[in-house]
Amino acid sequence: MISYKANYKDVTTVDFNKTKDALLIIDQTKIPNELVMLELDTPEEVYEAIKNLRVRGAPAIGDSAAIGIAVIANKFNCQNDHYDEFLSEFTKVKNYLASSRPTAVNLFWALDCMAEVVKNNSDKTVPEIKAALIKKAEQIRTDDIEMSRAIGEHGLALFKDGDGILTHCNAGELATVKYGTALAPIHLGREKGYNFKVYSDETRPLLQGARLTAFELFEDGIDVTVMCDNMASRAMKEGKINAVIVGADRIAANGDVCNKIGTSGVAILAKHYGIPFYVAAPTSTIDMATASGNDIPIEERNPDEVTEMHYVKRMAPVGVNVYNPAFDVTDAELVTGIITELGVAYPPYSKSLSEIMKKKTEQ
Ligand code: MRU
Repeated sequence: MISYKANYKDVTTVDFNKTKDALLIIDQTKIPNELVMLELDTPEEVYEAIKNLRVRGAPAIGDSAAIGIAVIANKFNCQNDHYDEFLSEFTKVKNYLASSRPTAVNLFWALDCMAEVVKNNSDKTVPEIKAALIKKAEQIRTDDIEMSRAIGEHGLALFKDGDGILTHCNAGELATVKYGTALAPIHLGREKGYNFKVYSDETRPLLQGARLTAFELFEDGIDVTVMCDNMASRAMKEGKINAVIVGADRIAANGDVCNKIGTSGVAILAKHYGIPFYVAAPTSTIDMATASGNDIPIEERNPDEVTEMHYVKRMAPVGVNVYNPAFDVTDAELVTGIITELGVAYPPYSKSLSEIMKKKTEQ
């Protein structure tokens, strides 16, 4: 694995390095203190980067898996007409990468899109299939930028200049390629001269809000204030927050939204204070095969993230029980609207989401 330092303005979260035939990512575990790029081209490197959140956020995980599997497959040593051998190697890597994280559906969506390319080209030579995989991975990455921009446009129409906006975790350009989902209206608003005041929950235990959201908004010249997760109620009561916007890792067919742990608490607070609670996500995050939030697998992560990580020294007794679910589910009834690249879905979500997904298949 190759790593080097870069300037944030010169790089994107996920990229394909053509010359090196490698997946290129910003190592997000190093932000905000260092901007380090990683070039990855083996199954183990890509798996490790996703598992350990060097690249994270549902769309960015999908983009990395797509580019990752394309560059890995490009190095398979099969003879030109050995489709079955290629398929078997590809399936092994696909299953391995799919086991890196369980919750964000974009990982499985992207890997399935890539598998479809292999299947649809079964009559082609191995070099032709390899080229088709690279092309598809690049397309997934480019589409991500377009979808994020469209989410930004639809989302921006819901806010007014000067709004105080609360967000949780990081659903920004560090979670996509550019713009982000929840942060897309904010970045786009800045381009168009809006002045938002963003409140970023620090997002325990991995601090995506303090480290990543604050970093990327600050870099973009946006007014951002970091607060601990337990300060949201106070900020809402004081009238600082006009709207909440968050991303999603998976949205079930009934509109239940799975996102970073702590999101559902923010939604409950927003309802209490009468503040709109928006979710922004591309259609690749909508999982019509999952009926409700109860069916979404919730990742549980290492207890050390709660007791030690990001502390100078350990902050809980050795051996104490630790509960560390990485995500929670916000009930559909708490969600004001779901902003996608194809428009905003409103309740009842079972109807509006199926309409949006129908529009998607007709494109
Ligand atoms: O564990 P993470 O950092 O991958 O969790 C990320 C989130 O929960 C994001 O809000 C979600 O993936 C949407 S990113 C556009």
